[in-house]
Amino acid sequence: MKIVKTIAEVRAAVKEWRSEGLTVGLVPTMGYLHEGHASLIDASVRDNDRTVVSDFVNPMQFGPTEDLQSYPRDLEHDAALAEAHGADLIFNPEPDEMYHEGFSSFVDMTVLTQELCGLSRPVHFRGVCTVVSKLFNIVTPDRAYFGKKDAQQLAVIRHMVDDLNMPLEIIGCPLIREEDGLAKSSRNTYLNAEERKAALVLSQAIKIGSELVKGGETNAEKIVSAMKAHIEAEPLARIDYVKLVDAATMQQIPTLDRPALCAIAVYIGKTRLIDNFFTEDVKA
Ligand code: PAJ
Repeated sequence: MKIVKTIAEVRAAVKEWRSEGLTVGLVPTMGYLHEGHASLIDASVRDNDRTVVSDFVNPMQFGPTEDLQSYPRDLEHDAALAEAHGADLIFNPEPDEMYHEGFSSFVDMTVLTQELCGLSRPVHFRGVCTVVSKLFNIVTPDRAYFGKKDAQQLAVIRHMVDDLNMPLEIIGCPLIREEDGLAKSSRNTYLNAEERKAALVLSQAIKIGSELVKGGETNAEKIVSAMKAHIEAEPLARIDYVKLVDAATMQQIPTLDRPALCAIAVYIGKTRLIDNFFTEDVKA
């Protein structure tokens, strides 16, 4: 496995693979890899001849008061994990390789980004769409892999690829959890022992919501209220949102009469964590 820092090196490697008729999968990440990321690499290695993992903490998707500076980084660990899972190339550019002086073009989206995380993180999805478009142009993958952990991001990327006729397939992969239920996230490292325990209210609320759906409840307000009540009982938790939205448009719905996403964002101390379930996954 190779680690490269420049766009030219990625293009050269992909050109060679293409000349051999090989297929290419891309797993975009911000590094500090864990088993959630590893599951995406596994899926790409299974489906494609070659797998590129991008490892880039994208400054453009962080708001001015967010955690860009403290975001955890460990390239050595990432390289070992990616290699063990069969990746062929890590692309780990410096910010000025991705955003040269005078950079002024952006990919943005309306509607889907104006709900859920888009409300509390106004510049976030513009940064995600822009960097992911750049990665697609640099790597030109046949397939790209995204986790359902970031359900709105997955919907936004699918929509962007469809709207802009990008010639690749987007594969959504299951949300991977710790043994006690907490959704795996690079940001879990911010939690102290007490917060780590309190953070379990997210997955517990998800369980409460999904059990109600499984039992046939279709009233969104009832489901949301039950989940909120559980989270509010934890003193270290502060709810950003608990919502049921149309799984394709991300717009809130009062009744579960179509495939829906139940998404939550909760601050545990200063750390903002997300979790979710898709009603279609629960019913299946
Ligand atoms: P990052 O948070 O590093 O996540 C990279 C990919 O791993 C995303 O598709 C995310 O959904 C997936 N992932 C993270 N935790 C997961 C879990 N517990 N189970 C399953 N998949 C999980 O998402 C980003 O980076 C960035 O926004 C990026 C797309 C790379 C653009 O900068």
